[in-house]
Amino acid sequence: MKIITDISEMQMRCVEARRRGLQISFVPTMGYLHEGHLSLLREGRRRADILVLSIFVNPAQFGVGEDYESYPRDLTRDAQMARSMGVDFLFAPEAAAMYPKGYSTYVDVEGLTERLCGESRPGHFRGVTTVVAKLFNIVQPHFAFFGQKDFQQLAVIRRMSADLNLPIEIVGMPIVRENDGLAMSSRNVYLSVEERRQALALSQALASARRMAREGENDCARILAVLRAAIEQHSAARIDYLKICHQATLQDQDRVDGDSVLLLAVFIGKTRLLDNGFLLGDR
Ligand code: PAJ
Repeated sequence: MKIITDISEMQMRCVEARRRGLQISFVPTMGYLHEGHLSLLREGRRRADILVLSIFVNPAQFGVGEDYESYPRDLTRDAQMARSMGVDFLFAPEAAAMYPKGYSTYVDVEGLTERLCGESRPGHFRGVTTVVAKLFNIVQPHFAFFGQKDFQQLAVIRRMSADLNLPIEIVGMPIVRENDGLAMSSRNVYLSVEERRQALALSQALASARRMAREGENDCARILAVLRAAIEQHSAARIDYLKICHQATLQDQDRVDGDSVLLLAVFIGKTRLLDNGFLLGDR
């Protein structure tokens, strides 16, 4: 595995691989790797000849007062894990190289980005789509892998990719969870022992929503009221949003159907956690 920090070198390596007729899989991350990231790498490894992992804590997607400075970083550990997954290139550019003085170009997906996480974190998705578009231009992958853990992010990237005619297959991968159900996240390290316990409020809410839907409850407002009350039982929990939306449009639904996704963002103490899942079917 080669670790590359220089943008032109990364681009040149990928252009050269393409010229040789090789297929490239790409997994963009902010590092502090866990089994969720590894599941994307495993699928990437399976699908193509060259596997590229990027690790870049992207300042453009953090708002003021958010955790850009304190976001967990451990490149040595990440590099070991990447090597064991068969990564060919680990791309870890500096923020000053990605956004040099005078930088002024942004990619903005309208509509989908205005709700849910976009409402709570203004400018967040503009930062995500901008960095992902830049990374796509540097790596020029055939396949790019994203987790459904960040359901809205995946929808936004698919929209950007289609709208800009990017010749890249966007592959969505299921949420990887801890044994007790908590969705894996680099931010889980922020949780105290007690908060870690209360963090189960999210996956438990998803499980009870699924149970209610399967048992025939189809009134979204009734389901959401039950979940809200259950989450609020946890002293450390503060709901940012709790919604049942159509999986493609992300618009609120009144009635549960096969396209219904429960989406939730909940602060546990100071840590904002996400979870989501389809209510019916096995997706
Ligand atoms: P990061 O939070 O590091 O996540 C990188 C990728 O791993 C994302 O596609 C995310 O959805 C996926 N992922 C995270 N936790 C997961 C889990 N438990 N199961 C499955 N997949 C999981 O998302 C970002 O970084 C950034 O916004 C990025 C796209 C890299 C742009 O900066």
